[in-house]
Amino acid sequence: MLSERMQKALNNQIKIEAESSQIYLAMASWAEGKGLEGISQFMYGQSDEERMHMLKMFKYINERGGSAVVSELSKPASEFGSIKEMFKTLFKHEVFVSQSINELVHISLEDKDYATHNFLQWYVAEQIEEEAQARTILDKINLIGDDKGGLYLFDNDIKQLTVVSSVMPGA
Ligand code: FEO
Repeated sequence: MLSERMQKALNNQIKIEAESSQIYLAMASWAEGKGLEGISQFMYGQSDEERMHMLKMFKYINERGGSAVVSELSKPASEFGSIKEMFKTLFKHEVFVSQSINELVHISLEDKDYATHNFLQWYVAEQIEEEAQARTILDKINLIGDDKGGLYLFDNDIKQLTVVSSVMPGA
């Protein structure tokens, strides 16, 4: 059985994952509006992944005899200034998500809830990947600078990342 505190913290994480999905959906729309097909595809893919993260946790809470809650979500930003700004926002958001997952791991250890601790390891590994991916993308954007030709290639390049992440094992 989940402790009240653990259940509350997991439900809060569900909200964070659902909001992440919304944030990346807004980014997909912004990029699509700018004709950046590859970047928008990547963001649609990220948005789907976040929904999967949310659902995985949702089902876990119910499986453990708790009650998964559907919360009201904050409206995400819809303007990002530049591609670099958008990916910086994505990176910062993923660092925030990682900290939140770490906090859950901490609670699971305090509760001696080893089932939840084990469950959370998937998220710990996923966050390492998500942060690394965001860092790689930011490095590439910094290399491109203001070069329009470079941006065109990058928009094409990022489609490969979308393909790789969509074939990774899911829930
Ligand atoms: Fe579900 Fe991108 O963290």
